[in-house]
Amino acid sequence: MKKFILDLTVTENLKLHANYALLKLASQSPLPEMLPGQFAEIRVDGSPTTFLRRPISINYVDRQRNEVWFLIQLVGDGTRRLAEVANGEIINVVLPLGNGFTMPENPSDKLLLVGGGVGTAPMLYLGEQLAKSGNKPTFLLGARTDKDLLQLDEFAAYGEVYTTTEDGSHGEKGYVTQHSILDKVKFEQIYTCGPKPMMMAVAKYAKSNNINCEVSLENRMACGVGACLCCVENTDEGHLCVCKEGPVFNINKLLWQI
Ligand SMILES: Cc1cc2nc3c(=O)[nH]c(=O)nc-3n(C[C@H](O)[C@H](O)[C@H](O)COP(=O)(O)OP(=O)(O)OC[C@H]3O[C@@H](n4cnc5c(N)ncnc54)[C@H](O)[C@@H]3O)c2cc1C
Ligand code: FES
Repeated sequence: MKKFILDLTVTENLKLHANYALLKLASQSPLPEMLPGQFAEIRVDGSPTTFLRRPISINYVDRQRNEVWFLIQLVGDGTRRLAEVANGEIINVVLPLGNGFTMPENPSDKLLLVGGGVGTAPMLYLGEQLAKSGNKPTFLLGARTDKDLLQLDEFAAYGEVYTTTEDGSHGEKGYVTQHSILDKVKFEQIYTCGPKPMMMAVAKYAKSNNINCEVSLENRMACGVGACLCCVENTDEGHLCVCKEGPVFNINKLLWQI
């Protein structure tokens, strides 16, 4: 897919609890096609310690407002600066990058979208696109506490939402892989993004239940276009760049010991 370098205008930068921001950027010309699971490399101006662009998933595309949304967890100087940008500021982005999730061939009501922490970000756009094409997605969202569960109302617009928190402050207490919905429904397809141990646990569940499963990896990245080789993952085809051949991989391709 063709990549674009765009100057986008900040239309909204919402603080979600203490550690997260929802950044909405608009374009003057129609935004390019973007697939769920793809990401952008965002240039961080005004942070002297942030030299490289930061990879951030496409959270949502609002075609009516010609906006692309990014859900950002504040972990370092780059993301903290992005959480400060004001309405009207120009942000330079390269998008769309990477491959994206595989859409089902036939509409299904047995699709499970599992997100952990800020790994829920790509699941909103995926859920919206699945619902738009006649599927009924189910969301299973996990976090440490209720303060780390984000955009629940937005998710609820596209399907059933189930949650787990480690402290029991929202939904069932524990990890996503312990949620009771997994005992009740036999899903046909799982899509997941989140911390690697969570994705490995989800992949293990999928494998042992013979369910097709795609994971979206968040390896550390620099160039974002397959040039620097800093994001490689070991696969059945050798080392592949997560930024170019991924970030979405079928679990059968990965050499994870699960
Ligand atoms: C394909 C992809 C999609 C992503 N999507 C999102 C998203 O939608 N929202 C979001 O908030 N973040 C996302 N990330 C992670 C995000 O890119 C990093 O958190 C960000 O680059 C950190 O930049 P920083 O300058 O704030 O922190 P830095 O100062 O660079 O790092 C601060 C801390 O964060 C850790 N860190 C940095 N990058 C990563 C990473 N890739 N994975 C795990 N830990 C990391 C560092 O080890 C360090 O401990 C994504 C990463 C990838 C590769
Ligand atoms: S980030 Fe440079 S090759 Fe993937």
